[in-house]
Amino acid sequence: MIAPVLPTYNRADLAFVSGEGSWLLAENGRRYLDLGAGIAVNALGHAHPALVETLTEQAKKLWHVSNLYRIPEQERLAAMLVDRTFADTVFFTNSGTEAAELAIKMARKYWSAKGDPDRIQIIAFEGAFHGRSTGAIAAAGSEKLTKGFGPLMPGFTQLAWGDHDALRAAVTDRTAAVIIEPIQGEGGIRTLPDACLKGLRDLCDATGALLIFDEVQCGMGRTGKLFAHEWAGVTPDIMMVAKGIGGGFPLGAVLATEAAAAGMVAGTHGSTYGGNPLGCALGAKVVEIVSDDAFLDAVRAKGAQFRQGLEGLVANHPTVFEAVRGEGLILGLKCVKPNTDVVKAAYAQDLLTVPAADNVIRLLPALNIPEADIAEALARLDRAATALGRAA
Ligand SMILES: Cc1ncc(COP(=O)(O)O)c(C=O)c1O
Repeated sequence: MIAPVLPTYNRADLAFVSGEGSWLLAENGRRYLDLGAGIAVNALGHAHPALVETLTEQAKKLWHVSNLYRIPEQERLAAMLVDRTFADTVFFTNSGTEAAELAIKMARKYWSAKGDPDRIQIIAFEGAFHGRSTGAIAAAGSEKLTKGFGPLMPGFTQLAWGDHDALRAAVTDRTAAVIIEPIQGEGGIRTLPDACLKGLRDLCDATGALLIFDEVQCGMGRTGKLFAHEWAGVTPDIMMVAKGIGGGFPLGAVLATEAAAAGMVAGTHGSTYGGNPLGCALGAKVVEIVSDDAFLDAVRAKGAQFRQGLEGLVANHPTVFEAVRGEGLILGLKCVKPNTDVVKAAYAQDLLTVPAADNVIRLLPALNIPEADIAEALARLDRAATALGRAA
């Protein structure tokens, strides 16, 4: 008999009742150190006092009105994002997937509005993840995501990660857009070198193709800058944001330049819930806290501390771990043992990590995780690796 909850997830037998900072209390009475943060969502940890206060205050005033009206909280958050990024304009969504849908639509509408409606081809990359809608799975293209859901939306090509020749051959003056995660999350914490992002920008400039960055997982302070692409000194035409921006409240956004958004006139897109007062009040508080220079400096310092410890773990447990990946606090451990075994061994140490493709476990803690909790996480990972190494 099918479970009341549609069984699309292989869930761990863990349920949590409350959280504080980087810690979660489970129904079983144990306290877990959370290095998953709801898959890079709880950017400020659980029950951050400023977010609890913002949520409570806004909940007493106004939750939802619809986009039939002006929404001051939405206007404020959009202005904050425009101030802090390349973007001239923002559309708010409830998730990363919804942001992917709009990014794809916006790119196609751009060409259609320019009188070239057949310029629909979008180049994506193997190992990418842009969400689970029909458009997002067509973009990522992997069999794991698409099998059984055909026919897929046409017009997407996936290139191998790092194949510059294939990229130069594929991106032409018939390409509508290129969509890429500056750091692949689900794909196994694979960082695109800065030089590649720069090269991609040049290629798009030369051909006119729009450049879309998916910063749903790697953005919002995770690398130690507000957005990952800032490290390379290049900007996209369109960017998808979600996860961390709501601090745990479902919120996403598509940021765009005025030129890229030119086709998106009144009536071309919408969302009932997107940009509601409650979500935008929280988003504004998260952006205010995370975009502060001192906060981002601290993310970089914590990232360096964590990485150094992880390098030590790799050296000490060569039969369990192979390499450290990632930047700032979007880190991965490429495993020798099956990553799912490593995740389970970490559960046994009351530590939460997240598996990814390419036999990697992801470490995506709250951005404000205390140094002492990083040290504790390293100690628990060390014990998990020792137990796994012994089992070999
Ligand atoms: C890079 C990236 N894009 C898009 C998505 C989809 O976001 P959501 O699950 O909020 O729909 C994800 C989710 O993991 C992601 O990591």
